[in-house]
Amino acid sequence: MIPGARLIILGRQGAGKGTQCVRLSRHFVVPHISTGDMLRAAVREGTELGLMAKKVMDAGGLIGDEIMIGLVDERLKRADASTRGYILDGFPRTVAQAEALDRLTKERPIHAVIDLDVPREIVLDRISARRVCRDCGTNYTATGNESQPWICDVCGGDVQQRDDDTPEAVNRRLDLYESQTSPLVKYYSAQNRLAVVNGVGHPDHVFRRLTDAVEARR
Ligand code: AP5
Repeated sequence: MIPGARLIILGRQGAGKGTQCVRLSRHFVVPHISTGDMLRAAVREGTELGLMAKKVMDAGGLIGDEIMIGLVDERLKRADASTRGYILDGFPRTVAQAEALDRLTKERPIHAVIDLDVPREIVLDRISARRVCRDCGTNYTATGNESQPWICDVCGGDVQQRDDDTPEAVNRRLDLYESQTSPLVKYYSAQNRLAVVNGVGHPDHVFRRLTDAVEARR
């Protein structure tokens, strides 16, 4: 096990970033920093940011770079991230965010950037079956036989479809991934910092590939 890992996990929506980051964060004992989770928490709390973010997220859009960079800057300054490391999930999502992150992490650079690679047709299937606990965020895959909503095994919360998992919003998010986020693959490979990991297959196998890729980059 590597203490103090600082990692970025890139990948299409529905590639399994959230699922795998939860496991990686336990494995490397570092906080999992998900910008999507931070925004969903703001929505639940009804803050000004949350009210604005909900409209953008439900439509499958991206929140402005300046807001996201400010949020991540604040989060990285907290004691757990500055002393132990972190796993970034959902950030950066644009080249402007990646450039800002390079500035923010100049003193303590990122160890590995991993692109969790899953083709678009597979992520579409995964997202349409995804159900999420509203309270603790645990992911489930619906088989079609469940009552709606059902009760979370972990915390007893309601398990439902995410508001931004409508077919229109998902297609818009995937289009935005191609235009705004996929250029990061080139950005990080040009700096020789990128490892591409196949995200198709049993989650345990994907997890093993991810930990191997991290160990190889350190
Ligand atoms: P965010 O929460 O980051 O959503 P996302 O990028 O759309 O990613 P997903 O959560 O859809 O996918 P995932 O890769 O985590 O997949 P998961 O593990 O759930 O962001 C939400 C919104 O916030 C954005 O749309 C945007 O508006 C805004 N936002 C966030 N960050 C931003 C930023 N930096 N800049 C601007 N805006 C920002 O897996 C999917 C499903 O597949 C699950 O059901 C899971 O159980 C299943 N699954 C996982 N692995 C496997 C496997 N190996 N085999 C089969 N099924 C699997």
